[in-house]
Amino acid sequence: MRRLLHISDVHFGPPHRSRLSDAVVAMAEERGPDLVVISGDLTQRAKPGQFREARAFVNRFTAPTITVPGNHDVPLWRVWERVLNPFGAYRSHFAENLEPVFRDEEMLVVGINTAYNWTFIEGQITLSRLTDVAELLAATPERVFKVVVAHHHLVPPPRFGTQRVLRNAFEAVDLFSSAGVDLILSGHKHQSFIANSEEFYPKGRPPVVIVHSGTTTSDRGRGSEKDKNTCSWIELDSELIRVSVLRWEDTLDRFTEHSRHVYPRQELVPYSLEGLGLGAFDSGG
Ligand SMILES: [Fe+2]
Ligand SMILES: [Fe+2]
Repeated sequence: MRRLLHISDVHFGPPHRSRLSDAVVAMAEERGPDLVVISGDLTQRAKPGQFREARAFVNRFTAPTITVPGNHDVPLWRVWERVLNPFGAYRSHFAENLEPVFRDEEMLVVGINTAYNWTFIEGQITLSRLTDVAELLAATPERVFKVVVAHHHLVPPPRFGTQRVLRNAFEAVDLFSSAGVDLILSGHKHQSFIANSEEFYPKGRPPVVIVHSGTTTSDRGRGSEKDKNTCSWIELDSELIRVSVLRWEDTLDRFTEHSRHVYPRQELVPYSLEGLGLGAFDSGG
């Protein structure tokens, strides 16, 4: 079994709520996850001081962590930096690797960078990265839990009135659902939702569970999560994926379970890279 704490959009800077980041760290200490997943937007404006605070926050977890950048981790107003070195601040103050991979004997977690200097409003996954991920997944035993982490959403979020998703989302979900990925974790919309890949990209395959976290520690929650903060607690075992959406309760001064969702692990079916036409995935997006 593996247990994940999934947080997102912590937004160090003016919108950050330090009381909640303290509570998240305390909750992680109490629950003891195998991994803390942080799906981007560590800062509000990609400023060095904000990255330093974000780094210090992540360092407080005793559990291993994995992070990917979000669009707010690329400078918006420092135009030259945005064009010439969009991830310089993230790399120098936070993490060199934009697409880290975590693995142990039971679980593979693959980070994908979807933030590209604001050119793509809802982000993108490059086809070259998909090729790499396909090889990684193919080389991983079937019994190993497979999780993908990206900042932007791969399926249209409900209650937003938009169908826009990140560039190459269809190709990505096509690969993930064929390759036995159990779970996709994302953020960005500041409103939590849970979906499955077959609802949006029906191919008659076992669905991949998609868990989208709201903002965990900022005052930028949207829609039904305006002024609300959420994160997810996920347990994976050989048969089931259990997801608890946790919501901040001001009166209780802690995150509590808002809803619980249980899914069977998808049937493990062998797949071939040739069948997916991945030979075409070499353009680099
Ligand atoms: Fe965000
Ligand atoms: Fe974002």
